[in-house]
Amino acid sequence: MVKDHTHDKPDFYNDLDKTYENIWDQLIIGKSKSRSEFHQGYISTFNDSFPSVRTVVLRHVDKKNNTISFHTDIRSSKIDEIKKNNAVTMLFYDHGKKIQIKVSGKAEINHKNDKAKTAWDNSRSFSKKCYVVEKAPGSPSDEPTSGYLPEHENELPDDNLLQNGYNNFTLVEIQIHSIEWLYLHRQGHRRALFTSTNGSLNKEWLTP
Ligand SMILES: Cc1cc2nc3c(=O)[nH]c(=O)nc-3n(C[C@H](O)[C@H](O)[C@H](O)COP(=O)(O)O)c2cc1C
Repeated sequence: MVKDHTHDKPDFYNDLDKTYENIWDQLIIGKSKSRSEFHQGYISTFNDSFPSVRTVVLRHVDKKNNTISFHTDIRSSKIDEIKKNNAVTMLFYDHGKKIQIKVSGKAEINHKNDKAKTAWDNSRSFSKKCYVVEKAPGSPSDEPTSGYLPEHENELPDDNLLQNGYNNFTLVEIQIHSIEWLYLHRQGHRRALFTSTNGSLNKEWLTP
């Protein structure tokens, strides 16, 4: 007898609207729960020679304004790349949930502006510490290095020094153009594409 697996299927399985809602639910959980596999994603940018990709933490998720954001150092290579071409793609995958989410859009660099200030003020001291490193991230070093002064390796710098990190702190906000969804299921995967143009959203199934 063939086993009926219908009940194994989530309610979004054959429903584009529910799939779209689920994407945002997943991203919101990812943002707020550090143990979620959607807490970090892989952001790719254009580089002159090779595509560039690296892990970043998902910091803000705004369904209404159709944006997601991450924090970084203004001196990092990704910023130079975004300045040359602000088209980016960020990829997420949750192994347990079997869900892949690919977000493409245009990145906006927020440095020393209101959005950056709010994000900085809401950051924890431990996160702020990343931005006090004297040399730019990616600078060559003759020795193995954390970039921190030795006295800051195990302790937080004092508040004044920590505050200097704001000069390097950057909020990168991605204005979403499209979201591609892939859900793996043993009875058949599901793939969907959501494209935003001039405020309207197009939803379509794709063959996985
Ligand atoms: C789990 C994890 C989380 C990370 N989060 C961030 C982040 O939120 N922002 C960031 O700029 N770099 C983050 N990094 C470091 C980047 O992956 C990358 O090495 C660094 O930003 C330099 O990238 P770039 O030279 O391509 O600009 C993270 C790395 C890991 C492994």
